[in-house]
Amino acid sequence: MINFDEVLAEAKQRLADIHENSKLVELKAKYLGGSSVVKQAFKDLKDLPKEEKGNFGQRINIFKNTLESLFEEKEKELEEEQIKSKLEKEKCDITLPGNTYDFGAKHPCQIIIDELTDFFIGMGYKVAEGNEVDLDLFNFELVNIPKDHPSRDMQDSFYISDNLLLRSQTSGVQAHVMQEAKGQGPIKIICPGKTYRRDDDDLTHSHQFSQCEGLVISEKASMGNLMKTLDLMAKHIFGEKREVRFRPSFFPFTEPSIEVDVSCFECQGKGCDICKHTGWIEILGAGMVHPEVLRLNGFDPDIYQGFAFGIGIERLAMLKFGIDDIRKLFNSDITFLGQFRKE
Ligand code: PHE
Repeated sequence: MINFDEVLAEAKQRLADIHENSKLVELKAKYLGGSSVVKQAFKDLKDLPKEEKGNFGQRINIFKNTLESLFEEKEKELEEEQIKSKLEKEKCDITLPGNTYDFGAKHPCQIIIDELTDFFIGMGYKVAEGNEVDLDLFNFELVNIPKDHPSRDMQDSFYISDNLLLRSQTSGVQAHVMQEAKGQGPIKIICPGKTYRRDDDDLTHSHQFSQCEGLVISEKASMGNLMKTLDLMAKHIFGEKREVRFRPSFFPFTEPSIEVDVSCFECQGKGCDICKHTGWIEILGAGMVHPEVLRLNGFDPDIYQGFAFGIGIERLAMLKFGIDDIRKLFNSDITFLGQFRKE
């Protein structure tokens, strides 16, 4: 017959020597599992005379409960030991130098786009999206530049197929927006985005650059509105001091047309290589929307008139930040770009 006290003493002894979970599981099976001492004791119980059964049964239960709580205690102890040793291993040395994280900077062109967007949204404009790959129809024909028109030469273009090209100007967005409006004004949008031309790359030209197109169509839009808008825009970007001048110009989609120059940042207007010794740098083209463009895009020129402008983003960035070579904007030089980080 089983000697409970002896078995308990032996179990305690063995438990004290255990430091691993797997060993504990093995031992538990031995004492409390299918063919354990406890199971054997219950079997012995069956063969006892009736009058001894009650007493023996009680003792088995006490024995079993004691064993179970011993194992439970040991399980907790092991768990705590493991957490403790894990924490000890994880101890961190607070005197070690920390990790440094570099913050990126907004690209100067993005700074200009954000400032322009802010300004024009404040004036009630919406931002329109355009495609960088567009049909010849939108990039040229619907803005009054039919096939073989000589002004196409000024925008020597990257064609993908006979009728598809990397847009050479954001002006095609005008046609898209007007077509969508189905002859119903008013329209008041800007569209900043990339444009592409087969320009030779030099200090102020690049085969890829960005423009911000603007278009206003209403019954009353006037040249006066246009000039005041552009003057306010130039002052918003460059501050009150920079001088702005308007020159008559030509674009097939505007009549009359103007070009807007800002005084050169490098020589303050005296004349230098950057401004080609004129003292001025061109920042945008603009004008009143040509009646033919209104007509081509479903607007009645007897009811509606409008103005449009196309701002050169890189030009503005160069002027604003005193950058002397447009190529710096595309070279991904971290040291150069890091200067635009806001501390
Ligand atoms: N699309 C013209 C250019 O790229 C700029 C422009 C836009 C002029 C809108 C007038 C009106 O040169």
